[in-house]
Amino acid sequence: MDITNRTGVITGAGTGIGRALAVEFGRQQGNLLLVGRRTAPLEETADMVRSAGGTADVFAADITEPGAVDRVAGAARARGPVDLLINNAGNVRAGRLEDLPEQDVLAMISLNLTAPILLTRTLLPALKESAANRGSILLAISSGIALTGLPFYTVYAATKSGIAHFSEALRREVHGTGVHVATAYPGATDTDMMTSSTAGEDLGFGRRPVADVVTEILAGIIAGDHEINTAATTRRKMQDLNKTDPLAVDALLAPRLEALETAVRTHRSI
Ligand SMILES: NC(=O)c1ccc[n+]([C@@H]2O[C@H](COP(=O)([O-])OP(=O)(O)OC[C@H]3O[C@@H](n4cnc5c(N)ncnc54)[C@H](OP(=O)(O)O)[C@@H]3O)[C@@H](O)[C@H]2O)c1
Repeated sequence: MDITNRTGVITGAGTGIGRALAVEFGRQQGNLLLVGRRTAPLEETADMVRSAGGTADVFAADITEPGAVDRVAGAARARGPVDLLINNAGNVRAGRLEDLPEQDVLAMISLNLTAPILLTRTLLPALKESAANRGSILLAISSGIALTGLPFYTVYAATKSGIAHFSEALRREVHGTGVHVATAYPGATDTDMMTSSTAGEDLGFGRRPVADVVTEILAGIIAGDHEINTAATTRRKMQDLNKTDPLAVDALLAPRLEALETAVRTHRSI
């Protein structure tokens, strides 16, 4: 895929993976609509995109609110043909299922699953229209947890495997239209989302630098990949084992359950 001169939307672009993706698309003369709730970090990203050689506008919105997705899509279409959509905004709340407040359960489902599905649904005609020459790019930022369900992340895992399967089904649905549907599966990455977790390398949560993760995501897009896994080696081994012998993964995790529960008890980015 040619990633130069892309025009479109990146959600959650004020920080972390979304910001780094925005800057990289900016470096490729991208023309971006940067979406998130807080204006200040989005403006900072917009400046970084401009310094990198691209153009950017900021659209502050909580994309889980009624009508917000339509407003984002309207603003995107008003800027011209859309050939890029990156559904990146996401949140997490860890903990034992029965201890998760209902509002946090719903917040994860709304942001990680419902909002990207609705935004994709609304912008898909525009992505198809722009796909004639060199294809459009539709990228979902899922998570390695979609490949190995981890304890104390039940709802987060449900949303991330949900969006991954949504992408797979849609990829088959839009076959031949020129819309390139890709899903990225980052493992633990050093961003704001992880600051409230104390789980580290010993528990399989060694964090990779954002720049490395985003470099791999973009390399995957350029190579025309549809499934882009940026997990660290130890986690990838567990993902492989989960495919062949899932109960062996249960056995591996069982002795570390208590330590993991303690380490992620405070993990919340909502
Ligand atoms: N970091 C990791 O270890 C990791 C691993 C696997 C997958 N991921 C995924 O990577 C994606 C990016 O996360 P990150 O690690 O870069 O964390 P992050 O820095 O917390 O980024 C999340 C972004 O989403 C935005 N956002 C949150 N709620 C929103 C809402 N209701 N409406 C619009 N925007 C909203 C936030 O900006 P505002 O607060 O200003 O709205 C923020 O910029 C997420 O989908 C996450 O699940 C992360």
